[in-house]
Amino acid sequence: NQRVTLNSLRQKHLACEPITMVTAYDYPSAIQVDTAGIDICLVGDSAAMVVHGYENTLPITLDEMLIHCRAVTRGATRSFLVGDLPFGSYESSSSQAVDTAVRVLKEGNMDAIKLEGAAPSRIGAARAIVEAGIAVMGHVGLTPQAISALGGFRAQGKTINSAVKLVEMALELQEVGCFSVVLECVPAPVAAAVTAALKIPTIGIGAGPYCSGQALVYHDLLGMLQDSHHAKVPKFCKQYGHVGEAINKALSEYKQEVKNKVFPGVSNTPYKISEGDVDGFM
Ligand code: KIV
Ligand code: NA
Repeated sequence: NQRVTLNSLRQKHLACEPITMVTAYDYPSAIQVDTAGIDICLVGDSAAMVVHGYENTLPITLDEMLIHCRAVTRGATRSFLVGDLPFGSYESSSSQAVDTAVRVLKEGNMDAIKLEGAAPSRIGAARAIVEAGIAVMGHVGLTPQAISALGGFRAQGKTINSAVKLVEMALELQEVGCFSVVLECVPAPVAAAVTAALKIPTIGIGAGPYCSGQALVYHDLLGMLQDSHHAKVPKFCKQYGHVGEAINKALSEYKQEVKNKVFPGVSNTPYKISEGDVDGFM
């Protein structure tokens, strides 16, 4: 299986084949996303919520993100790897943004970075990072790092004005050299308009079917977290598995078997005493 590159992504987009993106945060999730043949593996700052249990994406640090990035690179050998720039690591200036992006490539071993928003300073940051030789994925619509200013996790581009703004922001990101743009939580016709306006691929999440590709968060699509948990599965997500239930079942079975002295049985008790032997590994 060939490595996914910017070039192969471009080919896929030109052939009108949908691009797939799924997040991963550690070695096992990276192996699974990679093995499934997902095109882009995003080390998302959604790690803050689905891995660290925070209520939003703001608290995760660059150093924490880099740990996730490195773990993912050990498991993924084929997918194109994109690392999110976390909140607070790129907003101050273009040089701060370049420094952070360089760390995500050098220390995180990612193929590209993603940043949120399209305010003039973000457009400047995206341009500077591209000029530093680093591939940049944009992200507009619901940008969770702006939760404070947006007043919560809510859909964007629902009025004509904000929809037009969204198209303009995506065009600016394309203009400064982004290779792709994520559209999060926007009405399908608006995502369609953005996609039609751009030459680069749009990757939708909660943005309907008319994008060049689709993204979902690993834990959400697998049904990993329970409904009682505060990291609720978003409305737009389809759960392709109920992995959380399977894990619960396995853990309680284990607990029952230990309690009932069924585990460990004979086959789980392989070590015999042998005279004069030294302790080995097995
Ligand atoms: O962090 C993340 O998971 C993301 C996706 C929702 C695109 O940015
Ligand atoms: Na993100």
